[in-house]
Amino acid sequence: MFAIPLTENAELRTLDPWHAEEFAANLDRCRESIRPWVGAAFVAEGVDGARATLTRYAEARAKDAARLYGIWRDGTLVGGVLFVSLSVKTGVCEIGCWLEPAAEGNGLVTRACRELLDWAFGERGMHRAEWHCRADNAKSAAVAERLGMTLEGTTRESWPFDGARYDSQIWGVLTSEWKKP
Ligand SMILES: CC(C)(COP(=O)(O)OP(=O)(O)OC[C@H]1O[C@@H](n2cnc3c(N)ncnc32)[C@H](O)[C@@H]1OP(=O)(O)O)[C@@H](O)C(=O)NCCC(=O)NCCS
Repeated sequence: MFAIPLTENAELRTLDPWHAEEFAANLDRCRESIRPWVGAAFVAEGVDGARATLTRYAEARAKDAARLYGIWRDGTLVGGVLFVSLSVKTGVCEIGCWLEPAAEGNGLVTRACRELLDWAFGERGMHRAEWHCRADNAKSAAVAERLGMTLEGTTRESWPFDGARYDSQIWGVLTSEWKKP
């Protein structure tokens, strides 16, 4: 119900507070692999922490300011994609993603992001979609490139993590450039 098929065994659905246990289990399988690359607030601990993150996104969704979607493969939540932010006023949104290691390498996130971009440009009138990643996050940058985004710039030492600072990249795609494959 309310699902978009991504492959024959994977689908995209909204990820809501009632999925807290599944989300906590997904995070348990990928916490250490995603921690260097995503915002610290996203890497929740335990079911209560997972529910708090999902509730924060549900509240932002009610304000039309962010949205969270899960990717289920063979019935298991393996990751997801999100509008980190979305502003109807400025027409600018930012997309993000995560996957547990066992689900990488299958094109799930690229497919899911295409659904988000199509909705953002086609239904919500967004003008520009951004992708922010650590400059040394080659897998994330590869997704942005597959989505047809342009590397627009590098912000130096803007990503603090674990006592060090890393450069960040900003990728972007405009509504005039977007064409779903
Ligand atoms: C970023 C991340 C989601 C990318 O995962 P991913 O599996 O490489 O991305 P996709 O799901 O789009 O799959 C692409 C891979 O599947 C392969 N693939 C197979 N079929 C494909 C298809 N039909 N379409 C696209 N790619 C396909 C691609 O070749 C690629 O594999 P490769 O890197 O070995 O060449 C993942 O590495 C991750 O969760 N990292 C930690 C968190 C993170 O960095 N989040 C982003 C923060 S900015």
